[in-house]
Amino acid sequence: MRTAQPSLFCFVFLLTLLNLGCKENKKESQPSMETTDAQQGKDFIEKRIFGKMPDGQTVEKYTLRNASGMEIDVITYGGIITRWTAPDKNGSYEDIVLGFDDLQQYLDGNPYFGALIGRYGNRIANGKFSLDGETYTLATNDGENHLHGGEKGFDKVLWQVKGESVADGASLELTYTSADGEEGYPGKLDVKVTYTLTGDNELDVRYEATTDKPTIVNFTQHSYFNLSGDFTQSVLDHELFLDADAYLPVDGGLIPTGELRAVSGTPFDFKQPKLMGKEINAENEQLALGKGYDHCWVLNPKEGNYGLAAAAYHPKTGRLLEVYTNEPGIQFYSGNFLDGTLPAQKGGTYGQRAGFCLETQHYPDTPNQEGFPSVRLNPGETYSSRTTFKLSTK
Ligand code: BGC
Repeated sequence: MRTAQPSLFCFVFLLTLLNLGCKENKKESQPSMETTDAQQGKDFIEKRIFGKMPDGQTVEKYTLRNASGMEIDVITYGGIITRWTAPDKNGSYEDIVLGFDDLQQYLDGNPYFGALIGRYGNRIANGKFSLDGETYTLATNDGENHLHGGEKGFDKVLWQVKGESVADGASLELTYTSADGEEGYPGKLDVKVTYTLTGDNELDVRYEATTDKPTIVNFTQHSYFNLSGDFTQSVLDHELFLDADAYLPVDGGLIPTGELRAVSGTPFDFKQPKLMGKEINAENEQLALGKGYDHCWVLNPKEGNYGLAAAAYHPKTGRLLEVYTNEPGIQFYSGNFLDGTLPAQKGGTYGQRAGFCLETQHYPDTPNQEGFPSVRLNPGETYSSRTTFKLSTK
């Protein structure tokens, strides 16, 4: 009896370990949220508390889930997508967007992971622009330039959830009213962003805004993708397609020079799918200025003004991300400024190029550039922009 006890103990211990191991594997290969039988195979939305702002306001997290098991977590702080699970070619679900585990990390310094960006996505030279003869001064929060809406852009405000629906995909309607003069921009701006996760593994993002004074508007979504699901790996082994014959070369502050430059014969040519890493280290003045790719591509015109703009493919896992939009431009940012100082969700840190962004938008610095498509919004008009991110495998 005495000798049997330790071996029985070891046996039970081993069984427990094995069982734990299985659970861990299960977690990796299946949608990770606990779902009841009634929820399986259906679209649904679940709401939880994510954290508290320093002033005590509650930040909520909504999980959108579709019938096939894709899940997207959106928090009301910044409208940030904190987690997005997608199957690989073997049906194994993993998170494919960079993010943090808790609110404090987002508050401590977020390089716009997953965030809604406004009022103006990308840069405005010297933080200044004129409208109808009046000059407006914005925060210079990126060297001498203005970036992504300023000190407290839409990525740092609390959004209201105005609607939830599972009638036609799991859909979440976020609203925010930006006061006249907020971050230096004219006009009171009423903004609505609708995230809809469809049954086809698409996230459809629709932006709408109205103003009470002439103003400028350029929204985008700033998710950093890594389709490998392994955030310790760089994204340079992803293939990229960009439906663009030209891009906008920049100056040292990443402000477009105004030229539309043909991509043919340059490292900026992604008209045929090409590895992101293939030419990123080529001798090229523009790559040196961006420390890699950090440029806006001029999308080729689309029939019906909405269509495929970009596709990223990770051969090893088979995950394919397609981006459809009605915007004229797309910023491809290859995560050059990530430097291994931010904690990664699954352990380790986010190293340089651990994620890439495909930010659909109007061109940077449009208010100061003649000839770029207008970003002006007048009272009585409705700003409307649409981008769809579609996940599949091949
Ligand atoms: C910009 C990068 C910037 C990054 C911020 C991108 O949209 O193009 O230059 O560093 O956002 O995280």
